[in-house]
Amino acid sequence: MDKSPIVIGSDHAAYNLKEKIRMYLLENGYEVEDAGAKNENSVDYPDYGIKVASLVSAGKFNRGILLCGTGIGMSMVANRFSNVRAALCNDLFSAIMSRRHNNSNVLVMGGRVIGDVLAIEILKAWLETSFEAGRHQLRIDKFNSIGKVV
Ligand code: RB5
Repeated sequence: MDKSPIVIGSDHAAYNLKEKIRMYLLENGYEVEDAGAKNENSVDYPDYGIKVASLVSAGKFNRGILLCGTGIGMSMVANRFSNVRAALCNDLFSAIMSRRHNNSNVLVMGGRVIGDVLAIEILKAWLETSFEAGRHQLRIDKFNSIGKVV
């Protein structure tokens, strides 16, 4: 299993979930880079999405985790970066399939949508599931090749 360092970020809405996930990762032997937020004071999710996605995009980290209230804003931000395949997974099946078929490298969850226990289960599944490559890599190559459409 890939035990390379993971970069994590959230806004205020998912700060508490970020702390739970950070602790889970540390307790399970992962090095974690915390891009913030540092507390529950209101912030703008793009600031943290950009930090995490740019580090993954540049290859400084293989994987990232982004959390906001719904996960929607963070997904929108992260998927603007090349080499980032951010997957909004508020359920287990999506997390598993996002690894098997989409080779997701940023896991996004909504702290106001799911509870902490489910979030940790989703995280575990995401960390443990491998990409199946083959035809799925060809499909990723197809959308990678389009670049910016407009
Ligand atoms: C913050 O209120 C909320 O808009 C944010 O956490 C997120 O859900 C955005 O998509």
